[in-house]
Amino acid sequence: MKRIMAQHKKDPVLTNGRFTNNREMLFYFLRGSKRYFVLSAVMAMLLAFSGLVNPRVIGFTVDSVIGEEAFDLPGVLGNAITNLGGREYLRTHLWVIALFVIGVALLNAVFRIFFRMGNSRGAETLLKTMRDDLYAHIIRLPFTWHGAHQTGDIIQRCTSDVETVKAFLSEQLVMLFRVGVLILLGIVFMFRINLTLAVITVAFIPVIVGNSLYFHRKIAKAFKIVDEEEGRLSAIAQENLTGVRVVRAFGRERYERERFEKQNDVFAASDMRLSRIFVVFWSIGSFLSRFQIFIIMFAGALMCAFDVISAGHYIEFMGINAMVSWPIRMLGRIISQMSRTGVSIERIRYIMNAEEETDAADAVPMPEGGDIVFDHVNFAYGDKGRVLKDVSFTIRAGETVGILGGTGSGKTTLMALLEKLYDLPEENGRITIGGVDIRKLKRSDVRAHIGMVLQEPYLFSRSLQENITIAKKDATDAERDEAVQIASLDETVKGFSRGYETMVGERGVTLSGGQKQRTAIAQMLIRRTPVMIFDDSLSAVDTETDEKIREALRERTKDATVILIAHRITTLMLSDHILVLDKGRLAEEGTHEELLARGGIYHRIYELQMQAGLEEEE
Ligand SMILES: Nc1ncnc2c1ncn2[C@@H]1O[C@H](COP(=O)(O)OP(=O)(O)OP(=O)(O)O)[C@@H](O)[C@H]1O
Ligand SMILES: [Mg+2]
Repeated sequence: MKRIMAQHKKDPVLTNGRFTNNREMLFYFLRGSKRYFVLSAVMAMLLAFSGLVNPRVIGFTVDSVIGEEAFDLPGVLGNAITNLGGREYLRTHLWVIALFVIGVALLNAVFRIFFRMGNSRGAETLLKTMRDDLYAHIIRLPFTWHGAHQTGDIIQRCTSDVETVKAFLSEQLVMLFRVGVLILLGIVFMFRINLTLAVITVAFIPVIVGNSLYFHRKIAKAFKIVDEEEGRLSAIAQENLTGVRVVRAFGRERYERERFEKQNDVFAASDMRLSRIFVVFWSIGSFLSRFQIFIIMFAGALMCAFDVISAGHYIEFMGINAMVSWPIRMLGRIISQMSRTGVSIERIRYIMNAEEETDAADAVPMPEGGDIVFDHVNFAYGDKGRVLKDVSFTIRAGETVGILGGTGSGKTTLMALLEKLYDLPEENGRITIGGVDIRKLKRSDVRAHIGMVLQEPYLFSRSLQENITIAKKDATDAERDEAVQIASLDETVKGFSRGYETMVGERGVTLSGGQKQRTAIAQMLIRRTPVMIFDDSLSAVDTETDEKIREALRERTKDATVILIAHRITTLMLSDHILVLDKGRLAEEGTHEELLARGGIYHRIYELQMQAGLEEEE
């Protein structure tokens, strides 16, 4: 993570968070793996060249060694053979030629090994870089972004799409290069042998490539649909597996299974369509290239029969043609696969270009304590209606504040804004800590200052120890034990045979709602932040434990500012100050006695809850 953040600083591309085009992003991903790909490109070139040598040797042997054609060999090789005795020597020592052919083949094998090695190293490095980059970026994206995107779809982009891009850079692009070199060299060799045959061969290239280009768009379109359908399928699977208890509890297995099957059908159909396009495309490509070989064979044989071309040259030409016709077909294939890649790259770039949570460049240091002030705060999620309406209040440092309000009245939203989980747009009022607008503070500073127990705590499938110390890895056992004690979780831990090493969540014991809440409380307490928010964190524990926890908080976190959100008045009534929220507005505020005396909402809720409490006791 540190390394990546350092790169963020170093790299001009990512600091402004935008890749203007796909190429820019690919180059960014290629840092680290570039050298391997360069190595394999060089090897590809040597591979192509060494591959073309043997047909030349065979052609030369047929024409000039066995036959009577002119005997001309280039440079050093020519001199060496002439010294040995030229054509006569080779005729009696054909094994020398065989040895040469074997030597070239061996060299070819060596090039191939290095080519493969460079390529697979590059591919693995690239894959890792891409995944790391994407992940580091995704976990820095704001809440709003995550709220607006399906987890399943994000996962699919990080797996399938990343694989496609890797395949493109490590296979197709290198192949494109290799094929390009082969075709170019092949054509040069062909033109040297015979103009007519070479022209026929070259004439086929636009036909074969044209066929690919024609299919290119069709495939891209079909692939985009496949990818989206797959994303939807992953999203359904992910949602159902996460909510498997709900599915069971409400007997929705059948409905959910049918929903999955339906989407799977849609996905399979789109994939089938893509396959059909590929089949047609490949068949046409196959036919075209076979047809080309047939024409060359036929024309070459005719020319050979009429002595326009020597037998050796004919054999050599056919050899090169066989070598080139494969790359030409490959060229078509690569172009079609590139259509797929384009779609995947776009999908990844979409994520990479999402704006990360950033802090103002001129961020000021966190003030030491001080009052928290909400000053005419208005807020709406996206373009939906206002959730907070002109809310103003002050929380004095060190006091305990209670917030009461019906569901959906905006309590959690208030706290999320205070934690800077969502940004309060300009002109929507201000939130200040110690007189400083929190817009000017660094997110990490604010979150280190204000601890929050989430309303819906989430525990990782790790040990209790790891979960509790998640925000303070270096916590001592004493610190941990104290937090656990205040949270009234100590008895629970003692009850487990493995104590703190008990695994929780999917791989271990399932904690009850109340145990989970108390684990989350301990998790927050261990950080000893000056401000602590408990968002409905005592709702799942009994009144007695509720009281015990509040008592412990009062005694052992004396200096801290405590914000208690609750539906239960008994949880709040001892607070120094109580805020009553009603449909996004601050309806009343004061102490318990003041609020009761007012005879407003608070009073009404109090009466109702007391009534219910008495009835329960009866
Ligand atoms: N991430 C979100 N995106 C869009 N709307 C949201 C989001 N979170 C909350 N809301 C809406 O904002 C309003 C206030 O929600 P909030 O969670 O702040 O209420 P609350 O007072 O905490 O309720 P509860 O007591 O049930 O926890 C609700 O109408 C809710 O639908
Ligand atoms: Mg809430």
